[in-house]
Amino acid sequence: MNETVAKKQLEKMRDDWDQRARENARYYVNTEKTAWTDEEFFASGEQLVAEEILTDMGNICQGKAPSEMRVLEIGCGAGRVTRALARLFGEVHAVDVSGEMVRQASAALKEQRNAFLYQNNGRDLTVVPDVEFDFAFSSIVFQHIPSREIIENYVREVHRLLRPGALFKFQVQGATEVEAQPDDTWLGASFSEQQANEMALRCGFDPRYRYGAGEQYFTLWFFKR
Ligand SMILES: C[S@@+](CC[C@H](N)C(=O)[O-])C[C@H]1O[C@@H](n2cnc3c(N)ncnc32)[C@H](O)[C@@H]1O
Repeated sequence: MNETVAKKQLEKMRDDWDQRARENARYYVNTEKTAWTDEEFFASGEQLVAEEILTDMGNICQGKAPSEMRVLEIGCGAGRVTRALARLFGEVHAVDVSGEMVRQASAALKEQRNAFLYQNNGRDLTVVPDVEFDFAFSSIVFQHIPSREIIENYVREVHRLLRPGALFKFQVQGATEVEAQPDDTWLGASFSEQQANEMALRCGFDPRYRYGAGEQYFTLWFFKR
């Protein structure tokens, strides 16, 4: 993709997500409901962490105490999952392409002194301090990124920041019959099992486990080699 087209795509991601955040951030973060109370919205983040993180602490913590771990989140949205992560781990750093999402997440997490939120450029992690992370997580974010190139760039960036052996657990769109359009920021680029494995190897990860190949929520466990 040439520079101008790529720049336009990043601007569109930022603008579309800002617009969604202004319209009804919580709905676009989790479309199960149009009107979420604070309590319900953050409970849904706690539930996601209970299902995806607390059931998988061996792979995630690898013997470290959660309170001593520094965690990275890509696509924090309105802070639903970020808040639950910050209650569990020592430090959480989270990025999102939408300044409006980051503003709403920052308001929701103002009591959470161990959570650090950044608006990023939609493709890399240069806004995050260049320190070592113990675990990286992303849920329902890459499903919305219409470019495999951008997703792979994030995987490469997470590799740069993780300590050796650490896990990046994330989801991509696994339903390969749907085709992402470059200017559609809702439907992300899909990955087959083979494409996901090849991406892991190109970026220096061991693609150890996967779940949901062929489905909308294709979860991947990439361990930094
Ligand atoms: C469906 S929401 C999920 C938010 C959060 N992960 C959660 O589960 O509560 C998707 C989020 O991804 C963000 N996003 C979309 N494209 C992105 C990109 N290229 N880089 C960073 N964030 C992005 C959106 O702004 C939005 O906040």
